Amino acid sequence: MRELAKRLAKAEVISVLTGAGVSAESGVPTFRGEDGFWKGRRAEDLATPQAFASNPETVWTFYDWRRSLLAKCRPNTGHSALAELEGLVPRMHLITQNVDGLHQAAGSRCVTEMHGSIWRVRCQSGCGEHEDRRTPFPPPLPPRCACGALLRPAVVWFGERLPLEALEAADEAARSADVFIVAGTSAVVEPAASFARLARSTGAYLVEINPEATPLSSLADDVIREPSARAIPQIVDLRKQSWADSQ
Ligand code: OAD
Repeated sequence: MRELAKRLAKAEVISVLTGAGVSAESGVPTFRGEDGFWKGRRAEDLATPQAFASNPETVWTFYDWRRSLLAKCRPNTGHSALAELEGLVPRMHLITQNVDGLHQAAGSRCVTEMHGSIWRVRCQSGCGEHEDRRTPFPPPLPPRCACGALLRPAVVWFGERLPLEALEAADEAARSADVFIVAGTSAVVEPAASFARLARSTGAYLVEINPEATPLSSLADDVIREPSARAIPQIVDLRKQSWADSQ
């Protein structure tokens, strides 16, 4: 922790990569693990372009159900601490794999959503039509765009490319970071997980927050085996204290 305090005090750029675990204490189920969302479900039946092509109604029913669950969830102290951190460092990058919008709800302004947002809908044809949508669509599903093509959730499905802007933002976040914090991700989904490796290899001090071990644990300079709603506020407090002490 002493080295972490020193690094946090000096850091001009702090980058943070978050995953489903950061929203666990808000009541959002994670994807993997014992209580994980994919346990007993096949992701490829629901979260792939092939599933949407063969059964768009089922995929839409699933996403409307997930949106109704997420609509009840509120940001937790981990989200709030990250929003506060934005005002405490010269530059902060927040890269999330989460589609739940809880970072923005907590007040974070510069958020890169690598896997899109469950609160947005776009036209499948690429006609450019898109809309913010918080409520389920009235039947019949699937909903259609004015151009006649199907509307789809604006999330990244398995087997799809990530948006170029998100990849560029994550690359910049990794290369420029003095401290790179990876919180609440199993680090098994690429390319998201590779940005922590890139950050470490380009000189960042790598901190992992996760109650369980991940493929990144052995690479991390510090591992905090605690839930993120407790650990992230501690890190933000550490930055405040160590920065004040260094002045
Ligand atoms: P996972 O469900 O794979 O991993 C969640 C991680 O959070 C696990 O490593 C847990 O140990 C950890 N965790 C659980 N509770 C926690 C807590 N309170 N505080 C901190 N960590 C906790 O979720 P992701 O890594 O985000 O992609 O998954 C990556 C991608 O796979 C998702 O964006 C989604 C998914 O399938 C797509 O849908 C494309």
